[in-house]
Amino acid sequence: MRKHIVAGNWKMNTTVPEGVELAKAVVAKSAEVPSDVELIIATPFTHLYPVNEVVKGTRVALSAENCADKAKGAYTGEVSVDMLKSTGCEYTILGHSERRQYYGETDEKLVEKTKLALAAGLKVILCVGENLEEREAGKHFDVCNAQTVNVLKNFSAEDMKNVVIAYEPVWAIGTGKTATSEQAEEIHAYIRKVLADMFGAGVADDVTILYGGSCKPSNAKELFAQPDIDGGLIGGAALKAEDFIGIALSF
Ligand code: PGA
Repeated sequence: MRKHIVAGNWKMNTTVPEGVELAKAVVAKSAEVPSDVELIIATPFTHLYPVNEVVKGTRVALSAENCADKAKGAYTGEVSVDMLKSTGCEYTILGHSERRQYYGETDEKLVEKTKLALAAGLKVILCVGENLEEREAGKHFDVCNAQTVNVLKNFSAEDMKNVVIAYEPVWAIGTGKTATSEQAEEIHAYIRKVLADMFGAGVADDVTILYGGSCKPSNAKELFAQPDIDGGLIGGAALKAEDFIGIALSF
């Protein structure tokens, strides 16, 4: 059976002291959440080590928001998977639309990053999703198909045990415009079919597929009730412990 996951993506928000306080508040409230829901917080690189001091030994797992596409060496400003691992972090988000849009993240780079992350023992939350123009042109299935296949064709069924997919329609991120549960379910079911064609139905059935894009306590229940939506990747609402936990209580 696939896992239910609610993951907070803090993006470039909070100072280190603020992040530590937010993590403490999430841990304090986490007992309210049923134990079959995995809670993850993804923080800026600077926060990983101190936030790990707060979450280690609790049910809250730690994630990075990105990693380098090289293992080590003269790559000024980059952060390697071994560095991430050494902070205590268990996951990294990869391919977030903000990285694709603003920092030239390509599928080719994502293949390298995913290889390095999995080899280092990090689990990957791979983001896919169409922008508004692509949705309006009816290309959303093709875009999600290409982003999924271009990266995951380089990996095995065994690797997929450590990969979570997040479907995040770009037009719904931070805009307050959530995809309807029908729109989201349609793509989730489609991505699962793509995975079934690649790895077999058994593997596809076990992959957790998260929805992301203006998910909040008031709409999470309806989204999470869909058969192929296994949780959420939460941006804005993850910056308030109460809202983040409220979302996790929506299964
Ligand atoms: P949002 O962001 O919840 O603020 O829309 C989601 C994400 O980008 O992961």
